[in-house]
Amino acid sequence: MASLGSNLESIRRTFAKHGQEHVFDFWDQLDASGQQRLFDQLSQLAPNLPAWIEGRKRAIDGLSKVQNSRLELVPVEVLPEFGGDAEIRDSAREAGEALLAAGRVGLLVVAGGQGTRLGFEGPKGAFPVGPVSDRSLFGLQAQKIRGLSRRLGRSVSWYVMTSPATDFETRALFRAENFFGLDPSDVMFFSQAQVPCCDFEGNLILEAPDTLAESPNGHGGSLLALVESGALDDMARRGIDRIFYYQVDNPLIRIADPVLMGLHELQGSEMSCKVVRKRDPDEKVGVVARVDGQIGIVEYTEIQEPEKSQTDEAGQLVFWPGNIAIHAFSTDFVRRVAEEADALLPYHASAKKILQVNSQGQTVAPSEPNGYKLERFVFDALPGAAHVSVLEVRPKEEFAPIKNAKGKDSPASVRGELDRQYRAWLQDADISVPAGIKVIEIDHAHVDSAEEAKALGIDRLEEATSMIRGSTGMRV
Ligand code: UD1
Repeated sequence: MASLGSNLESIRRTFAKHGQEHVFDFWDQLDASGQQRLFDQLSQLAPNLPAWIEGRKRAIDGLSKVQNSRLELVPVEVLPEFGGDAEIRDSAREAGEALLAAGRVGLLVVAGGQGTRLGFEGPKGAFPVGPVSDRSLFGLQAQKIRGLSRRLGRSVSWYVMTSPATDFETRALFRAENFFGLDPSDVMFFSQAQVPCCDFEGNLILEAPDTLAESPNGHGGSLLALVESGALDDMARRGIDRIFYYQVDNPLIRIADPVLMGLHELQGSEMSCKVVRKRDPDEKVGVVARVDGQIGIVEYTEIQEPEKSQTDEAGQLVFWPGNIAIHAFSTDFVRRVAEEADALLPYHASAKKILQVNSQGQTVAPSEPNGYKLERFVFDALPGAAHVSVLEVRPKEEFAPIKNAKGKDSPASVRGELDRQYRAWLQDADISVPAGIKVIEIDHAHVDSAEEAKALGIDRLEEATSMIRGSTGMRV
């Protein structure tokens, strides 16, 4: 807590100099604790105010720029069925397995988001997704990490990025679930930072007389938070120099995929991406491409025609590599990007409804967007990387994000995808499933592939213990 005293005048001058003196509009009406709260928030922001002013200016200017970037395809290590070299994948897998066995890979999940779009109160990672057990996204990922540790014969460190809105509940969930069977010393939580919102003129917004409106600084904030929280130092102490990065919303995630980690290593990359073939031009995934000469991702909201729907002679989309938000990073690169974040990770503005005080000092929830939230995107780091590897994977094996309450990418469709994957493993392993079983769930801590299902040496589902569960009820 900073003490008011003579600092107050200097803080007032700083905000006035940048045309933001309105943040003191209710100062005289605040009690001592309210004044202290506002003062603390403002004095934290003050040294960064010029950078925030510049950042939000670039973000707002960016909105009015016509997006007619020149797109070119980037080299992608495509799947063997599309002409890719199976041997390259095999040697990548070997190199990745060696990295994992040496304990050099840490896992980073970005889980700052809430389940609002799903009508779910609470962190998105707490969303129940297990087709039979209702296990949460975090719980399912923890099983996969336990499976990975079992195969490696060593623990794997999991770094969980929360946000101020999800931090408390996320930690409480892990505690209540005994860390889902993981060793608590291998799980580290850290929160991303918040950034002030601005109105359509670019000015700070008071959401209450003693509080500036702020929102999480986007998943790009993870790279800064890794440094600021000490997580990157913790990695260094543990001998981790490569990061497997993923989003909390995809239960098909192949955690620490050795093929990605190995390709990243063999090609001397600083950041790498997994992509899938877009199923149609409107699929809500960004496209990995060279954008005006530099590798990057064009968001699904920004890609324009004709590139968006352009097809080749075979009728396939030309700009097909869809970003599934799974990356590999070298830790040195993360440190460099964090140090130069204002240059390398610009803010993006999106118009939102933001709580705001009226002239009487009452907080009002607007019915229409009244300002911008600002976010950094992790993939904006791509052009700063010395080399980038791009690996194609099969969506039915690795990508089924929960985004919407209903329809495509909804809890029902994603549970269906999990059930389909489990049935495929059992089929490969010649394990028969009784006709009445409507839905299946496998505990990844014990069985994490068709090969591991085969290794059980059983031929009927009934012989499996609780590690494979079938249910006659159909979840929706
Ligand atoms: C995102 C990608 C898109 C990609 C798609 C794949 C962006 C801008 N776009 O789209 O290119 O094809 O995922 O699923 O990201 N998060 C935080 N903190 C934040 C903001 C987000 O941790 O401040 C996390 C969320 O918890 C979530 C993830 O980032 O796990 C993605 O956020 P979301 O808003 O769902 O991104 P999409 O629009 O679906």
